[in-house]
Parts: sequence; structure tokens; C-alpha cells
Amino acid sequence: MPGRYVDAVRELARERLPEEVFLYFDQGAGDGVAAAEAAPAWDRFRFLPRVLRDVTDVDLTTTLLGTEVSSPFAIAPSTLQRAAHPEGEVAMARAAQACGSLVVVSSNAGTSFADIGAVGAPWWLQIYVTADRSATVPVIERAADAGARAIVLTADTPVVAGKYAGERTVWEVTDPGWVRSNFTETTTPLAAADKATDLGPHDIAWLAGQCELPVVVKGVLHPADARRCVDAGAAAVWVSNHGGRQLDRVVPTADALPAICAEVAGAAEVYVDGGVRRGTDALVAAALGARAAFLGRPALFALAADGSEGVGRVLQELASELTEALRLVGCPSLEGLPDDLLVRATGL
Ligand SMILES: Cc1cc2nc3c(=O)[nH]c(=O)nc-3n(C[C@H](O)[C@H](O)[C@H](O)COP(=O)(O)O)c2cc1C
Repeated sequence: MPGRYVDAVRELARERLPEEVFLYFDQGAGDGVAAAEAAPAWDRFRFLPRVLRDVTDVDLTTTLLGTEVSSPFAIAPSTLQRAAHPEGEVAMARAAQACGSLVVVSSNAGTSFADIGAVGAPWWLQIYVTADRSATVPVIERAADAGARAIVLTADTPVVAGKYAGERTVWEVTDPGWVRSNFTETTTPLAAADKATDLGPHDIAWLAGQCELPVVVKGVLHPADARRCVDAGAAAVWVSNHGGRQLDRVVPTADALPAICAEVAGAAEVYVDGGVRRGTDALVAAALGARAAFLGRPALFALAADGSEGVGRVLQELASELTEALRLVGCPSLEGLPDDLLVRATGL
């Protein structure tokens, strides 16, 4: 196949999935402005490379809350993975395992945490805290029992934003088994309306108290909120706009990342997602201070296209692009990136 596999997977997924499922995965909220702006925002940075440096051995390894990973690319949570592939979350976890990566599992997963944990890949639980906090507790306990190493609190979804499919049918998820395998049926109906609308910094400590795992807050865009998260005990802040699927016209994560790193660098780890499609995107993210670049749709589309092998291929392709980019900027590892590596391109 010519070109990049990461670019091809979207079309492969479109061919293989029912139209309404593909659209559900692909679309952004509202008019799709934020979803469309995510990837181009990374393009607005330019590198100022160094030469005459030994780049024979390049090392992409890093740690995420103490877990060693082979590269800064990891897999963001997405629901409905069994609609993408019959083996769903298990196939996704196998890819992470094969590549030395880490996978974040949606609380709306269609596979039991025990089966995901049995794969052996390092994994974190993403949680949408429910309005009735008692419905969240057993989900966290099940995840901790199954080996989850952190809890990722998604903070940008007090309500699920409207998504429109134009003239086409908007997909209605009818099978609770695809999204609620780890909830107790009687207490948690399929409706998304039961998400908490009163989340506060105190919920970070509350979550940590349920399981003694580190808490990551996902969906942070304002530096003052990053500071509030860290002050409340978050171990990491995840700069995300939910792939443009929540508030439309929200700032691209590439634009929000610098101020957040400046605010909490050293006090907490910072991660990013949104439109990461190139090795050079992760190099920009790392130069700005992010420790990981998470993949949403590229992993989900690759899962639909070619199962765990496809996801692995995306991870490997991006890692190899990043290796090449590090060589070309004259830096053999992500640790020692020079402060002046990036130039913000103007007029683009
Ligand atoms: C189909 C789909 C389902 C998602 N489900 C979740 C979810 O259950 N929980 C969550 O925190 N984020 C969810 N996300 C957001 C991703 O974790 C991530 O923030 C986003 O996809 C990153 O942008 P990208 O798709 O451009 O890589 C979902 C994204 C997609 C595309």
C-alpha cells in the first residue's frame, strides 16, 4: 500500500464498517470545526534542527506514571470498540502489548476488565463519573482488581455534545453489551444522561480514595484548570478536546499545550491527544513538554481495518517516523530536546 498506513486506515475503516458506525467514529460535534482543526494545528510549528550530533542510537522509551513504554505513542480511550472489531478492547490491548505501549480503556467498554487485563498490556481505566457516585465505585473496583494502573477522569463531558450526520442516519447504540460490560445493569441504564454535571476538584481525591491508583485528568485546556487538578492531587493532566467531539470551536490541543506545560511542568506529567497523525506531531508535543501523545481515531480505524495487527502497524509507523525526526533534528532521545527546537510559524 503506498503512502502512510495511518492515513489509509480511515478509508479502510469506511469500507469495512456500516456507514452509520464509521460516521459515529469519524465525526466531531456541532459543525466539526474543532475536529477539522486538530491535525493542522500541529503543522503550525517548525523545527530549528541541530547538526553535527551523534544520532546513531535513538531511544524513544519513556515512562508514563512509572510504566515503561517503548515510545510516547499510546492508545486513547474510545467506546464501542466491539463495533469496530469483534474482539474489540481485547484486540486493542493485544496491540499495545505487542508494541510495548499502553492502552486506556473506556468506562463504556464492551469487554470485561478481567478479559482486557488478562492480555497483559499495561492499561489505565478512563472513567466518566456518574451523577450517582455509587454507580462508579464498582467499576473502579473491577478495574483495579483487573490490574488497571491509573484512573483517567474525563472532565470535558458533563453532557454529551450533539453530533449530526447531515442527511444520514445518526447511529443509535442499542446493544448495552457494547458499552456497559463493566456496569451493574440494574443501577446504570444505557442512557448517557447519568454523567455527573457537578464534578469538582474534590472528585480527584475521591477517585484516588476508591482505589489508591494515580488519577489523571483528561480534557483540560486551560492552564488554571491544570493547576487546580494538580493542587487537588492529580498525578497527570491530559490536554484533550475529546477529538473535537465535545465543545465545537474549542481551541486545538496543540495551541493549549504550551501554557499548560508552563503551568504544571515538574509538578505533574502532561499528555496530549487530538489530531496526532505524524511522528513529527509527537516531536512537537514532546518539545512543548508532553510526555505522551495519545491516539484516538487512528487506533480505532486501524482496529476496524486490520484488528490488533493494524493498531500495531500504526504504532510502529509513528514510532519509526519519530525516530527519523529525532535523527534529523540532531537529538537522540526525547529527554534532551533543546529548549529552542520549535519555532512558531507565523502567517500560516
Ligand atoms: C469514537 C470515539 C469514542 C470515544 N470515546 C471516548 C470515551 O469513551 N472516553 C473518553 O474519555 N474519550 C473518548 N474519546 C476521545 C478520545 O479518547 C480522544 O480524546 C480523541 O479521540 C483524540 O483525538 P483523535 O481522534 O484526533 O486522535 C472517543 C473518541 C472517539 C473518536
